[in-house]
This record gives sequence, C-alpha cells and structure tokens, in this order.
Amino acid sequence: MSILVTGGAGFIGSNFVLDWLNASDEPVVNLDALTYAGNLQNLATLQGDARHVFVRGDICDRALLDRLLAEHRPRAIVHFAAESHVDRSIHGPGAFIKTNVDGTFTLLEAARTYWTGLADDARRAFRFQHVSTDEVYGSLSADAPAFTETHPYEPNSPYSASKAASDHLVRAWFHTYGLPVLTTNCSNNYGPLHFPEKLIPLMIVNALAGKPLPIYGDGLQVRDWLYVRDHCSAIRSVLERGRPGQVYNVGGGNEMTNRDIVQAVCALLDELQPDPAGPYNRLITHVKDRPGHDRRYAIDARKIEAELGWRPAETFQSGIRKTVQWYLANADWVRGVQSGSYRDWVAANYEAR
Ligand code: NAD
Ligand code: DAU
Repeated sequence: MSILVTGGAGFIGSNFVLDWLNASDEPVVNLDALTYAGNLQNLATLQGDARHVFVRGDICDRALLDRLLAEHRPRAIVHFAAESHVDRSIHGPGAFIKTNVDGTFTLLEAARTYWTGLADDARRAFRFQHVSTDEVYGSLSADAPAFTETHPYEPNSPYSASKAASDHLVRAWFHTYGLPVLTTNCSNNYGPLHFPEKLIPLMIVNALAGKPLPIYGDGLQVRDWLYVRDHCSAIRSVLERGRPGQVYNVGGGNEMTNRDIVQAVCALLDELQPDPAGPYNRLITHVKDRPGHDRRYAIDARKIEAELGWRPAETFQSGIRKTVQWYLANADWVRGVQSGSYRDWVAANYEAR
C-alpha cells in the first residue's frame, strides 16, 4: 500500500509528508515540479528513507502520471500541488490556470483511468483527496456567518478562481464518473516551512533583518488562522473516514486582523530575540492595498468536527510561538530560500507599492 502526494515539497505538502511518515510506515510517492515554492530541504530528514519516493515532475504531464500510478499502485492520491500565492496570481495568472485548472484536470483523468482498472476491492477503497481553500467562497462582511460547505462560490482573485475551477472539476468527476473524491476547503495555514512570501513568515524574516513590515491597506482584513499540522491531521481524518463526494471545511476558529497578527509576531520576537534598536513593531509600514483584496474569511468547521471528530490541537498562541521559535532555530533554511528569484519577487511586489 502507498499513497501518491502531489506538491509534497511545498509548505503544507511537506508538513503532511513528514507527519504521515512519522505516524505510519505506509510509503509516500511525492510528485512535485519544484517550482520556486518547492524545496527539497523541507524533506531533508527523509534522505535515505525508502518509505519516501520523490519524483520531480509536473501534474500536467499525463504520461508521467500514468507511469507513476501503474508503477506504484497507490490506494489514494492527496493533491496539494498548486500555485498558491494570491499576489503572484495578480502579477501573472497564467501559471495558476495551467497548474490549478489544467493540472487538476490531467490528474483527475489519470486517476480515473487508473481507478477504473482496479479490482473491485481496491476500486471501492480508492480515494482522490483534493486540498482546497476557503478563498473560493469569496469575502465576508464583518458580521456575516462563517463559510459553511454550502456557501456560494464567489472567488475574487485569479488564484481563488483557479482553485474554484479545480473544485468544480473534482465535484464533476464524482457525479459523472463516480471517482471517489473528497474535498477540503481550509483557511489560512501557518507554521514551520512556510515560504516567506506569505504574511506570517514574511513578517518574521523581515523583522529579523530589520526591514519594513508591509501591511496592505488598513490592515483590518480578517483571516482564520490554522496551524499547519492541524490541517494535516484534518486531511488524514478526511482521507480515512470522509464520505466520498463530500466537502469538509477546515479552520482554526482564530479570526484575527492582519494588524493583530503582525503585532503578535512582533511581541513574540521582542520576547524571544529582542532587537537592541527597539521593539519590532517600529518597522510596521502601511503600503498600497492588494487589488480586489478580500476583507474577511471565516470557517464554520462544525461538519468535520461532528462527522469525523477532528479538532485542532493548537491555539493561535501555542501555534504562533512554535512557528516563531522554528524560524529562529532555522536561519539556514531561511537563507536557503531567499534566492535571487525570491529577491526578484520581493522587488516586483513591494517596490511599486
Ligand atoms: P506551496 O506554494 O507552498 O506549495 C505548492 C507545491 O506545489 C510546491 O512544492 C510546488 O513545487 C508544487 N507545484 C506547483 N506546480 C506544480 C505542478 N505543475 N506540478 C507538480 N508540482 C507543482 O503551497 P501550499 O501553501 O503548501 O498549499 C498547498 C495546497 O493547499 C494548495 O493546493 C493550496 O491551494 C492549498 N491551501 C493552502 C493554504 C495556505 O494557507 N497555504 C490554505 C488552504 C489551502
Ligand atoms: O485562506 C486560505 C489561503 O490563505 C490559501 O488558499 C492561500 O494559498 C494562502 O496564500 C493564503 O492566502 P492569503 O492571501 O490570505 O495569504 P497571505 O499570507 O498572502 O496574506 C494574508 C493577509 O495578509 C492578506 O489579507 C494579505 C495581507 N498581507 C500579505 C502580505 C504578503 C499584507 O498585509 N502584507 C503582505 O506583505
């Protein structure tokens, strides 16, 4: 038995692979194109571990998918691979359509062919798990109830539109072909191995470097933050006990404004690595807003809690402390990801703001 993971060298995928192999000996075939967001350093502790088979390749490559499925005969596919950064989708949406839409379509078709050819028992047990986002539901007003699984789709960015399209494809492959799919729509993750283009790791690495902490617009946008390992445990619960064809919203119940997030990061850094030049929040700057910026996301996670008994293990306070401690202890990892292309991105996104 094995599972095929796509995008397992990225932030959530690598946390998932590490957690999976920590908890079980079931092998993981990890297919990842190693875009700017993929990093084999995330998986360095698995070097020489026969339970982890890494394959560099693209989910748009049908021949490769067919070969991997025929060779490894996985009992499940857990699909993380995606272009994931909203700001990059604004600068260049094409890659998002290619990977998130075409790539998911290609993977679904390869999975369908493979699944159709399985013996009865294996066909019944097979699962295709699609890892998606709360951003497909659009933006909430301040007092609107949190997103449930039946909230209308109202994506507002090229990223969320491409993820919404992929969710629809996954749904259709269940209804039309009976492929046993599961979809999770999760809120904002944070934790170790988070690429420092996203809010929390960007603020940590900029603060430690004495650089400005750029808050878009008024900073009163709200996100619902979930520690990444809690997202991984939710995915494992859904994979093992979720009902095919169902959607499960996953969230941490931690709605916070971006301003409060940045203040919390600064306060922890003040405690754990004080800067002789003064409190880190002196570096906060308000910059031009993100176009089409969603104001608020909030997840109603009652379905996964009631049906599968899943609960997050971390509070925001415990999770953010672990996260900041991880970045302080892993300065080499941070240096490693701040390559020339990272610096080019920072210049492209922030210099014109
Ligand atoms: P990430 O950008 O850190 O990692 C994406 C990974 O996919 C990288 O390793 C990259 O190399 C790989 N990849 C990209 N294009 C590929 C392709 N064509 N073929 C094969 N591999 C490819 O993303 P993440 O934050 O880890 O997100 C993983 C998944 O979870 C995504 O589907 C994302 O939409 C979803 N999600 C993310 C969050 C979050 O807060 N980060 C929240 C909810 C859902
Ligand atoms: O909600 C789930 C989504 O969360 C995932 O699907 C995405 O893959 C993931 O990137 C994340 O999207 P966001 O756009 O919410 O995350 P990001 O970290 O880019 O931004 C979080 C908030 O912080 C958002 O309101 C924009 C703001 N922000 C972000 C950056 C990078 C700033 O104010 N300044 C910044 O420099």
